[in-house]
Amino acid sequence: MRNEAMDDFVERVSEATDILRVVQGYVPLKRRGNRYWGCCPFHQEKTASFSVVPDKGFFYCFGCHAGGNAFKFISLIENISYFDAIKLQAEKLGIPLPERRRSPQEIAREREIKDLRKVNELARDFFHNCLTMTRMGETGKAYFAGRGIREETIEEFQLGYAPPAWDKLSTAFLKRGIKQEFLLASGLSAERKQGNGLYDRFRGRVIIPIADERGRVVGFGGRVLDDSTPKYLNTPETILFNKRKILFGLDRSHRAIQQEGRAIVVEGYMDAISVFDAGVHNVVASLGTSFTPEHAKKLLHYAPEICFCYDSDEAGQKATIRALSIVRDTGAVVRVIVVPDGKDPDEFIRRHGADAFRKLVDKALPLVEYRLRYVLSHVNYDTLDGKVRALHEMLPVLAGIREPAARMEYEKKLAQTLMLDEGLVRSEIRHYHGGTEQAASPARQPIRQAIVRQDTALQKAGRIVIRMAWQDAAVLVHLETIVPLEGIQSSAQREILTFFKTSMEQGRPVDEASAASLSDEAAAELSRALVEDLGGREEAEAYDDSLRVLRRAYLNALYAEHSRKANEYAQNGQHEACLQELNEVNKIKHEMDEW
Ligand code: GTP
Ligand code: MN
Repeated sequence: MRNEAMDDFVERVSEATDILRVVQGYVPLKRRGNRYWGCCPFHQEKTASFSVVPDKGFFYCFGCHAGGNAFKFISLIENISYFDAIKLQAEKLGIPLPERRRSPQEIAREREIKDLRKVNELARDFFHNCLTMTRMGETGKAYFAGRGIREETIEEFQLGYAPPAWDKLSTAFLKRGIKQEFLLASGLSAERKQGNGLYDRFRGRVIIPIADERGRVVGFGGRVLDDSTPKYLNTPETILFNKRKILFGLDRSHRAIQQEGRAIVVEGYMDAISVFDAGVHNVVASLGTSFTPEHAKKLLHYAPEICFCYDSDEAGQKATIRALSIVRDTGAVVRVIVVPDGKDPDEFIRRHGADAFRKLVDKALPLVEYRLRYVLSHVNYDTLDGKVRALHEMLPVLAGIREPAARMEYEKKLAQTLMLDEGLVRSEIRHYHGGTEQAASPARQPIRQAIVRQDTALQKAGRIVIRMAWQDAAVLVHLETIVPLEGIQSSAQREILTFFKTSMEQGRPVDEASAASLSDEAAAELSRALVEDLGGREEAEAYDDSLRVLRRAYLNALYAEHSRKANEYAQNGQHEACLQELNEVNKIKHEMDEW
């Protein structure tokens, strides 16, 4: 593209560009000496460290060290290439781009795109006027009002209403001289199956215009006002409208995304509108389709972090897990905002307000943490198979953590929760890194054997405590301060200890004769406890070890129970109860670290 005409063009635009005016279009500046100062638009700050030196034609931020000429500024703030920044500036200044020879096809396509954009813009205005200025629009207004959508929001998003008639838009647009082929190509109209003529795609729906990242309308979403189906109708795929690429709201949010360093992704455009309205501006919605690698790429353009905030129901959780696997390989930092009440962010905000939502945003979980919680609340890991499955599902996630310290932290957490040896979890991850299918297979024998060994260790700890309690009733009292008897997992051991306790309370001696009342299984376990060796340890040491093992098993079981409950409450929309459970979970987690 380098040629004389182009060099000329760039020089003309440079000469006509006043950096001060360019920057002031985005950032308020105050003069001090030969510099102008303001708050940097490229990082968050409260005091002004961003400056412009008009004489020299450059800007520089002393905080984040962003700097350069006017085009560099435009390219950063609009997030476009350097050359596009020059073109944009040329457009503003009315300097024409030197003609490049284009093929007739290219010219025709560009023409069509331009025409379709125009038609879409007209349709946006048509729907919007219909909502705000006509009697028919009252129905739509009432719908928005019922959802708590303010008039300012209707203006901001240019929301609209499609009247419940067959061809209002088609007729009006044809009358204005818009060609039938454009109405069809834009997806606004369809051909009647019987007879001639067109009918409107959107009828009797509130309308949400969908723009590309530069704010140009590329399509529409229409929602019914009642429970009829389909609930949402979107523009079909057109040359402008590609659902895999478009993210609703990005035109309004990209600056906030850049500033905050992260984008929040929600499932529906109504969610995005609510979240935006709640003052959280770095939000986009994918359009009903699941999140795609193209979406991820687009967002990573603006910020390194992507934060998913989907419905908290089972379908939403599944969608989150799918989205997580899509972004895992993109290098994005990924978090998940868990909405504990009200199915989706929109409902949550309506019920609990904007502040409550912003708190949720601050508490977004790192990907691994979310994944771990998901696995633990969906897999019953009390059983051997469950443990193997949970470990198996976590392996790819753990193996994906790049920082060794963070990975070790989660290895430890997972090991504790599943009651597995940390070394075992670590070696499984190494195997997984090795990449052989077989290594990751849930049927791998070593894990199973290790789990069996671990279970055996728990049983053995129980027997050691039983043996000591047999000799000295005070042991039982001490044990109960550490693990309540109902928290002893083996039913035989629980029976024995409960028997000790009732005997003690009733002042009866514990001996072979009274123990005859025990079930066969418990009697056998008791005999074994009395003769088993201590594994070469002193009594005191064996006792301490055993209590630790029992306590950890107990905490694990509690952790699992409260996690499951929290998840259940979240799904039933019981906000308070869910938070209480999560508090418990956190307390238990802290304690687990101490043992
Ligand atoms: P509200 O009920 O208006 O709050 O919608 P929502 O955003 O809670 O919708 P939901 O969670 O049911 O769906 C999320 C997104 O999926 C919507 O924004 C749509 O993009 C898409 N979607 C939902 N239902 C339909 C449908 O019937 N057809 C199409 N094409 N998309 C749908
Ligand atoms: Mn909703």
